[in-house]
Amino acid sequence: MASKTPPRAVVTGGAGFIGSHVVDRLMKLGYRVLVIDNLASGSRSDVPSAALLEECDVADSRMEPLLAKWQGELLVHCAAQVSVASSVRDPVLDAHSNIVGTARTLQAAAAAGCRRFVYLTTGGALYGEPRYLPCDEAHQIVPLSPYGLSKWTGECYLTLLAPDSMVWAVLRLANVYGPRQRADGEGGVVSIFAKRMKSGLPVEIHGDGQQTRDFVYVGDVVDAVVAAMNATSSITVNIGTERAVSVLELHGALSAIAGYSKPPVFIAPRPGDVRHSQLAIGKARRELDWSPHTTLEAGLAETYAGMASSVLESQAVRRRRVPTQ
Ligand SMILES: NC(=O)c1ccc[n+]([C@@H]2O[C@H](COP(=O)([O-])OP(=O)(O)OC[C@H]3O[C@@H](n4cnc5c(N)ncnc54)[C@H](O)[C@@H]3O)[C@@H](O)[C@H]2O)c1
Repeated sequence: MASKTPPRAVVTGGAGFIGSHVVDRLMKLGYRVLVIDNLASGSRSDVPSAALLEECDVADSRMEPLLAKWQGELLVHCAAQVSVASSVRDPVLDAHSNIVGTARTLQAAAAAGCRRFVYLTTGGALYGEPRYLPCDEAHQIVPLSPYGLSKWTGECYLTLLAPDSMVWAVLRLANVYGPRQRADGEGGVVSIFAKRMKSGLPVEIHGDGQQTRDFVYVGDVVDAVVAAMNATSSITVNIGTERAVSVLELHGALSAIAGYSKPPVFIAPRPGDVRHSQLAIGKARRELDWSPHTTLEAGLAETYAGMASSVLESQAVRRRRVPTQ
């Protein structure tokens, strides 16, 4: 009996925080995965060895031949410049990755006959200072940073230019956190706090700590990607928890997990930060049959444990590298 050929997928940004978790899940589901990443913020070591890693910028013209050769039926577009602060410092670089890169990825995917396109974008940096909470998908779009604007523009390219043969999904994510997270993304506050607590260092909070965010665990986001790639028609949805958590509350929950007792140090608020951010997820519940399952406490514990083991692993690697003579 002839063996069935495994399905193929492409994950751009698959060496990054969320992308690497998406790659893990797709491989568990039996996909052969091509990761396209320029390693600007991602790590080669976060890509499983069974996945193929192509070091390439998503805005590069090599995208067309790469995707044509791979013939993936699904593409999950995670690659992006994700730092709001960097986007303010260098909006051209941000636009190159997030606007040109998304247009290029879409064009190459369409030319290669890819039938499913999942685009990860921001819910937190899209709606501006909210007119009401939680923000649903119909909320006015008022990005306050070049990053919010470039991610929104990518969304517009997708909804405008995707061919009829392609089913697409736009996932507007809240503040994502979890193991392997770097400190500069939107949910980076969790990894910053956890790293400082792990090292016994003081933790700084911008403003009074009463500002709120919607923190969603990376495993729940990956579940949403899987639900989106099985959707029967194209869709734009928020992915969050619909729960507003203050930064002070987050500090307390993580301190309890880390056994950390120092009080936070309050510093000047960051200009341009929205006071409250919370996403309505009724549409994802209804239309994707998706809901987040990870409580904040469980997600923070996983994140902290992941960080502890990665610190131990890197110490072990360093020890192995020490010359023995
Ligand atoms: N982390 C969050 O809280 C959050 C919230 C909302 C939306 N998002 C979106 O989710 C996606 C993944 O974010 P993340 O938090 O995993 O960030 P990340 O920085 O860990 O991952 C981004 C990956 O894209 C790669 N990359 C960047 N520019 C590239 C380019 N021009 N060409 C090829 N590869 C490139 C990086 O090397 C990295 O591996 C992004 O699209 C981001 O906008 C993240």
